[in-house]
Amino acid sequence: MVSLVFSKVKTLRTGDSMPVLGFGLYKIPNGIKAEKVVREALEVGYRLFDTAAFYGNEQSLGKAIRKSGIPREEFFITTKLHPFRLLSIERAFFQSLKKLGTDYVDLYLIHWPFMRTKTVWNIFERIQKKGYAKAIGVSNFSVHDIESLVENHGSVPAVNQVEFHPFLYRKALLAYCQSKGIVLEAHTPLTHGKRIADPRVASIAKRYEKTPAQILLRWGIQHGAVCLPKTTSKERMKENITIFDFSLVDDDMERLDSLNENDHIAGISRVMGDRAI
Ligand SMILES: NC(=O)c1ccc[n+]([C@@H]2O[C@H](COP(=O)([O-])OP(=O)(O)OC[C@H]3O[C@@H](n4cnc5c(N)ncnc54)[C@H](OP(=O)(O)O)[C@@H]3O)[C@@H](O)[C@H]2O)c1
Repeated sequence: MVSLVFSKVKTLRTGDSMPVLGFGLYKIPNGIKAEKVVREALEVGYRLFDTAAFYGNEQSLGKAIRKSGIPREEFFITTKLHPFRLLSIERAFFQSLKKLGTDYVDLYLIHWPFMRTKTVWNIFERIQKKGYAKAIGVSNFSVHDIESLVENHGSVPAVNQVEFHPFLYRKALLAYCQSKGIVLEAHTPLTHGKRIADPRVASIAKRYEKTPAQILLRWGIQHGAVCLPKTTSKERMKENITIFDFSLVDDDMERLDSLNENDHIAGISRVMGDRAI
């Protein structure tokens, strides 16, 4: 039985704190739209923002953060190395930093595994040592990918961001990450909206007088993951953050666990498929 009092932050292996619920910015166009979404998410209470060079909206995130007047240290900003621009990793990193208009990021991720990953990781370690990234991590990595990254004394990533929801319950990967002190961050936690209407989730939601989205997110954080829902609606931003006033009992956690179908919904997860265990 999980206590109703659930910590809203996790401690990373670096010692820094990370909120267990963040806000995803994938597919939110740079410009007025992204600025408005971030401003509203800030009003609702989100402080962790997940972007990527690939998403193209780092600039608007940075702008909205600066305009908010909220001290930088209250934010947790994550960005990711663009997977297709590998000529100079340092240049790519400083480009992101400049667009975000900040002196450091809280978390810098390798967006997905590819060739030269070890070389990239060495540069990530240097960026972290210089204090430009408080923590470094990976995304869409399997157990094997992480093992091969850290062999030869590479440092262990602080975070592995992967698709994670009841229809893709990666039990073995979660257990591995937890055994190594790696925080599993759940991307696509709402199944990109595709399986939110599942009647089995709806029936659990009804009993708790919660919405299916709240049940999916609560399931993720009760498994120890950090969840990153995305929405452009302020009402849904509020709905998605209101998950700290209830807890799912063990039987319902098990019911949700049993929905696993290895359903990879995000494009990158589909490409990685079952190798990403
Ligand atoms: N590392 C990676 O490779 C990777 C890959 C994919 C995603 N991500 C990260 O994870 C974040 C989330 O993933 P995602 O954006 O693909 O999908 P998601 O959060 O699983 O789902 C977003 C979809 O659900 C809808 N939605 C949001 N809240 C809802 C609610 N309460 N009720 C009903 N529908 C709701 C949204 O529609 P509206 O906007 O219309 O509300 C949107 O269509 C991304 O933004 C990104 O930061 C990372």
